[in-house]
Amino acid sequence: MRATAVACANIAFAKYWGKADPWLNIPAVPSISLTLRGLETVTTVELNPALECDEITIDGELLSPPESKRAVELLDAVRACAQSRCFAKVLSRNNFPKASGLASSASGFAALSVAARAAYGLPFDPVESSRLARRGSASAARSLFGGYVELPQGLPGDDSLAARPLYPPEHWELRLVVAIVCEQPKKMGSRPAMEQTRASSPYYAAWLEHAPKLAQRIREAIAKRDIEALGHASEASFQAMHAAAWAAEPSIFYLEPASVEALHTIRSMREKEGIPVFATMDAGPQVKAICLPEHAEAIAQRLSNTKGVLRVLITQPGPAASLIESPS
Ligand code: PMV
Repeated sequence: MRATAVACANIAFAKYWGKADPWLNIPAVPSISLTLRGLETVTTVELNPALECDEITIDGELLSPPESKRAVELLDAVRACAQSRCFAKVLSRNNFPKASGLASSASGFAALSVAARAAYGLPFDPVESSRLARRGSASAARSLFGGYVELPQGLPGDDSLAARPLYPPEHWELRLVVAIVCEQPKKMGSRPAMEQTRASSPYYAAWLEHAPKLAQRIREAIAKRDIEALGHASEASFQAMHAAAWAAEPSIFYLEPASVEALHTIRSMREKEGIPVFATMDAGPQVKAICLPEHAEAIAQRLSNTKGVLRVLITQPGPAASLIESPS
C-alpha cells in the first residue's frame, strides 16, 4: 500500500500566533492565508509490515525519533482510524530549500496527511486531512486548500477544527515577493515562541483581542479584491504579532538588519512612488511583499538591490493539496 501526495506552502495575511489548546494544537486566533504555486512538498507513504517503527526521510535525511515525533503522531492517528498496526516508510521532498525561510512544515504536514490517509486505505477527504495536519502544525491545515484559505480560531478540546477554502486561486491574481535575507535555521521555532509570548508578554492579551478584528478586515478586503485594505490590515497583523513576541521575556526578535532595510524599501515604494505594496513577515527574518502582478517585477528588482537581501522569489496563488499516486 503506497500513496504519494503534493501540497504547496502558504503565507498568512492574518497571522496565527498563540494556542487555545497546546495539546491539540488549536489556534487562539483566526488566520487567513494564500497557498503558493510551485513551492511544493511531495510525500510518499508506503506501508511495510517488516518495519518496527515508522521511518521518515526528508530531503534525503532520515529523521531521529525526536525529529519525527509529530509526523509519527500523525501516522498514529491515521492508523487508529484505519485500524492498522503496520508502520510506514515516508519519503518527503521539498522543491524549495529548507533554509529559504519559507515554512516547509505547512506543505510537509499537508502532503503527509493526504498521502498517509490514502496509503492506509482511507478515502480522500481534504477537511479530515486539514484537521490531521493541524495537529502537526496549525499553518499546515491551510495548505490543504488552494488560493485564499481561513483557519478559524478554536476552543480548547475541539479537535474537529479544520481550515476552509475562502476563494480559489483565480479569485485574485496577487503576487507575494519574498526577500530572503538569511539562510540560517530560524532562531526559535514558532511553538516555543508562541508559548513564551503567552506566558510573559504584556501584549499577548491585546493581540488575542485585536487579531480577530484584523482577520475580519482581511476577509472583507479579499472578498472585494481591495489591495489597499488587504495590505494595511496584513501589515497591522504581522506587526502586532511581532510586537507581542518582542515584548516577551526573554524577548523574541526575528528581524535582521536586512529585514529592516527591506521593510524600508517596501514603505518607500508605497509612500514615495505610490505603488500599492505592503509587507508581511512570519517567525523568521524574511520579508514578503504583497502586491499586484503588474508591480511584482519592479518590486523584486528593488528588493534584490536592497542591502543584505540575498535572493528574491516571486510567488503566486496556488492549488490545493492532491494525490498524485494512490493504491490501486
Ligand atoms: O503552524 P506553525 O506552528 O508553523 O506557526 C505558524 C506561525 C506563523 O507563520 C508566524 C503565522 C502563520 O499564520 O502562518
